[in-house]
Amino acid sequence: MAQNSIFFCILALGFVGISYAFDTSPLQDFCVADLRSTVRINGLPCKDPATVVADDFFFRGFNSAGNTSNAYGSSVIPMNVARVPGLNTLGLTVARLDFSPGGFVPPHLHPRGTEILTVLEGSLEVGFVTSYPNYKHYSKVLEKGDAFVVPVGLVHYQRNVGKGKTVAFGIVNSQNAGITVISNAVFGAKPAINTDYLSRAFQLDKKIVQGLQAKF
Ligand SMILES: *[C@@H]1O[C@H](CO)[C@@H](O)[C@H](O)[C@H]1NC(C)=O
Repeated sequence: MAQNSIFFCILALGFVGISYAFDTSPLQDFCVADLRSTVRINGLPCKDPATVVADDFFFRGFNSAGNTSNAYGSSVIPMNVARVPGLNTLGLTVARLDFSPGGFVPPHLHPRGTEILTVLEGSLEVGFVTSYPNYKHYSKVLEKGDAFVVPVGLVHYQRNVGKGKTVAFGIVNSQNAGITVISNAVFGAKPAINTDYLSRAFQLDKKIVQGLQAKF
């Protein structure tokens, strides 16, 4: 009997732990973020509901392409809680992605969000790599109207494989999914990760690692 109780306690704690790892379900109509509050909580504190206005739920900025004049030839315009406080506690973000010909998003992961990617124009290769089965690579070329799921936390990438520009929308089930670009995390960490160590870990010449650390 006592053993059973302990077992169920551990089970229950496990579920609590798991549910806290994700955006919580709202306990009221909305909790529009008070972006000026200095209170530190998991998420953002709510504004007084009486002061909430339609603009708290509004975003304008998907009407035109983002600036893709950068090393990656891509741009991401996010509609997230930082820009739309009404998204607070709702577990949702949408982003417009633009790619110039040959443009791409470097390998990255979202620690807190599963993503659905939908192509509106052009041709986009999207792929992710699993942790199990070990490093299995799943990929698809998406054409206009196609969509693809990228499970939470997995390393993934997008690249324009069409002749012209590509436009896509990404939806993630977090108000703040986070993004970790692999190259920046490894070679651009501040303070820098030990160069000898990275050289051995990546089986690269130390000079190459130094070059990468200078670049990122
Ligand atoms: C796009 O970004 C580049 C590089 O930052 C900048 O030089 C250029 O002025 C930007 N173009 C527009 C239209 O904002």
